[in-house]
Amino acid sequence: MNKREFLKFTGISLLSLTALTLGCGNDKTAKADAPAPEVKQNTNKGASQNMSTNSKKILVAYFSWSGNTKAVAEEIHKQVGGDIVEIVPATPYSETYSVTVAKAKAEQAANARPAISTKIADFDKYDVIFLGYPNWWGSYPMPVATFVETYKLDGKTVAPFFTHGGGGEQRCLSDLQKLAPNAKFTQDLVLSGSSAKSSQAQIKSWLDSLQL
Ligand SMILES: Cc1cc2nc3c(=O)[nH]c(=O)nc-3n(C[C@H](O)[C@H](O)[C@H](O)COP(=O)(O)O)c2cc1C
Repeated sequence: MNKREFLKFTGISLLSLTALTLGCGNDKTAKADAPAPEVKQNTNKGASQNMSTNSKKILVAYFSWSGNTKAVAEEIHKQVGGDIVEIVPATPYSETYSVTVAKAKAEQAANARPAISTKIADFDKYDVIFLGYPNWWGSYPMPVATFVETYKLDGKTVAPFFTHGGGGEQRCLSDLQKLAPNAKFTQDLVLSGSSAKSSQAQIKSWLDSLQL
């Protein structure tokens, strides 16, 4: 199964996830030397006025393999304003689902910190970090751990959001809280991957509920 097929694949169960891990895939050659992802600034000038953010500096940071979490991140950014950046592993994951599932499992078992190419100048200036990623094996994809340990979240307000394939939140929040014990966490947003691209109203009500 490649990424495009995976996007159509909804309601994944942990059982099927395990089964797929055992399968073999036709790996594609990973693209090397991709340019470092840029922090994109908000172009929606009215967006930050939708929330009572008291001119707090906002960054939306996300990791996404097949696009669901990216869609949520972009919608949050559209509604709340601030800057947005993708957490990009220096070595891209395979586009073949079973290969990525196996790699993710091995990285989690090794508590790995895969290098990321994401560079954020002046991270200190941000007060609020919206941090999103898919549930991978019940927790965060390991490049997210690299991000959190590179850009310290101490003292920041962190608004976490997750997408999943049927398992829900699992340890996505609790493991993140262990990685960043000195951050202030808001209520999280948990969306199924299959509804990620049509969750504008849910995202709005979550944003409205945050006391930022
Ligand atoms: C490596 C890998 C591991 C996954 N592990 C889980 C899991 O443990 N529980 C779950 O509910 N979904 C799991 N999923 C499904 C994703 O969380 C879900 O499809 C998500 O919306 C994908 O987000 P993305 O498009 O931003 O990558 C996994 C997917 C992948 C690729």
